[in-house]
Amino acid sequence: MHVGIGLAIREASEEDVDEIASVINEANYHAYRNIVPEPYFRYPVVTPSEILNDMKRMKFYVYEVDEKIVGVAALEIVTNDVGWIRWVYVHPRYQGKGIGTALMKHVEKVARSLGLKRLRLLTHEKAVWAIRFYEKLGFRIVDYIQRIAWRDVVMEKEL
Ligand SMILES: CC(C)(COP(=O)(O)OP(=O)(O)OC[C@H]1O[C@@H](n2cnc3c(N)ncnc32)[C@H](O)[C@@H]1OP(=O)(O)O)[C@@H](O)C(=O)NCCC(=O)NCCS
Repeated sequence: MHVGIGLAIREASEEDVDEIASVINEANYHAYRNIVPEPYFRYPVVTPSEILNDMKRMKFYVYEVDEKIVGVAALEIVTNDVGWIRWVYVHPRYQGKGIGTALMKHVEKVARSLGLKRLRLLTHEKAVWAIRFYEKLGFRIVDYIQRIAWRDVVMEKEL
């Protein structure tokens, strides 16, 4: 069953950083502990103060169910034309219900309203579920970035 979209999404504020970090850390642990090599896997992957710091240069959007944050996505504007999608995570219990799609469509709407021409994002080469998710939303792989122990894919969408 897909959840309703629209009113459940709002821009985040500094008071949300604990809940945002918790959603990211739970989702990251479940998704990446088997694909990121052990010496490089971090839990927690982010702290609330790091999210607070990111809020200075990114807009965060959250999806709430019963006033609890269950999904997050952020938009970082790097030039007048290009925005980077960051921190797309849905709590494991709420995945597969359309929440990630709703957050991404919301961020796209914001990006268009700001006059951005394209969106880019990075994800792990082995995160096939994430690549499929972004492809369904119209993103295409445009490049690869070699990290120490894996490759990231760069995906892009023209708006
Ligand atoms: C990737 C993620 C954000 C998607 O959010 P979501 O709310 O689960 O996604 P939706 O329900 O909107 O799914 C949309 C499509 O994505 C694909 N998808 C989502 N989760 C998937 C999974 N676990 N396996 C395969 N495909 C998946 C499906 O094609 C789905 O389409 P469908 O409903 O028609 O089958 C979420 O699963 C997540 O947080 N995963 C772990 C963290 C992560 O990998 N984030 C991306 C980091 S860059």
